[in-house]
Amino acid sequence: MSRIVFDGVSKVFPGDVTAVDDVSLMIESGEFMVLVGPSGCGKTTLLRMLAGLEIVSEGRITIGERDVTHLAPRDRDLAMVFQNYALYPHMNVRDNLAYGLKMRHTPKAEIRRRVADVAGLLGLEEMLDRRPRALSGGQRQRVAMGRAMVREPAAYLMDEPLSNLDAKLRVSMRAELARLHERLGTTTVYVTHDQIEAMTLGRRVAVMRDGRMQQVDEPQALYRDPVNLFVAAFIGSPSMNLVEATISDGTAQFGGFRIPLDPARRPAVRDGDSVIVGVRPESFEDAAFAEGGLPEIEVTVAVMEELGSDAHVIFELDAPRVEAEELRAAVEERDEALLVDSGTALFNARVDPRTQAKVGRQLRLAVQPAGFHFFDRATGENLLLAAAATA
Ligand SMILES: Nc1ncnc2c1ncn2[C@@H]1O[C@H](COP(=O)(O)OP(=O)(O)OP(=O)(O)O)[C@@H](O)[C@H]1O
Ligand SMILES: [Mg+2]
Repeated sequence: MSRIVFDGVSKVFPGDVTAVDDVSLMIESGEFMVLVGPSGCGKTTLLRMLAGLEIVSEGRITIGERDVTHLAPRDRDLAMVFQNYALYPHMNVRDNLAYGLKMRHTPKAEIRRRVADVAGLLGLEEMLDRRPRALSGGQRQRVAMGRAMVREPAAYLMDEPLSNLDAKLRVSMRAELARLHERLGTTTVYVTHDQIEAMTLGRRVAVMRDGRMQQVDEPQALYRDPVNLFVAAFIGSPSMNLVEATISDGTAQFGGFRIPLDPARRPAVRDGDSVIVGVRPESFEDAAFAEGGLPEIEVTVAVMEELGSDAHVIFELDAPRVEAEELRAAVEERDEALLVDSGTALFNARVDPRTQAKVGRQLRLAVQPAGFHFFDRATGENLLLAAAATA
């Protein structure tokens, strides 16, 4: 019905800035697709090309059966919600909601019906006579959303619509959005630079970097099988631990440790080759609470974060921190400031909250080699996926 297809779409701005580079992406009718990536990676530009607000330099965009690449914005039947939405301050909520329809000469009775429907859906019935100034931030955000909804478009395009809200409100609006989409089933393309928001909202998530599409998949699949180092580092919180390791005799050697690999998950490299090993925090456990038979390492606890449901043990590895351009881009977006910046690798282990770990003391950790990821040092490519693809 309203499937959206980007086919080899690029955008080059004057001054030779390639903001979007040969992106192909299919968004199914009714799907909630999230575009995520660091600042400047081209998300807004991609969305604006879809909306018709930016000229496409190369490629084609179709909505349903229609090629819309060169259509005017108003002929595309899309509604956009921006981060910096502005409500009309001198109009009450009802008139704010109705304004776009009035401009399009929609019949009065139809306007009344749609405004009532949307106000009902968004819980704004009690506020229809109020002006924006008399609303909370979340209520204003709902009115902005409502203005897009009354148009009953083929698709919603949302560009960081929640980023002006405080953290708590953002979480509740996120839940409302998900619920609304369940009910309306309208195709939605949602842009955010926040990977947690992307993971919680998207049925599928498209990860971009430097104008290029990196990977498009369901959140779980992105987390489990990132195609490269960038996606691995960008998705997941706390982020994946990374260290350079030598693969030899069926073991991974790093930071003075030598960990036997899972026979079913070994990279196809020569003996003695060096790769980047990635370990999610949950692939570690305090040895006192781990199942038996797993390899163990002894570490010194640098920082403890006790969250009640689990505990994070941060420890230093006797190995240099992995320096890669893609990692800087992935991690810059996040609030995880380095606590100890000594140039050595810092690892984060998520362990049982009953742990007796203490800062400055030794701790034995069990490791799940079945959870290891391996990346090419030069290209950042996920070596297990690359092998599976050519097998
Ligand atoms: N009108 C323009 N002229 C020249 N360069 C532009 C223009 N608009 C965007 N760019 C550049 O294109 C690149 C992509 O910008 P875009 O706004 O799409 O990024 P974004 O992923 O939305 O980032 P953010 O998360 O910060 O909103 C950036 O390098 C930006 O500087
Ligand atoms: Mg943007």
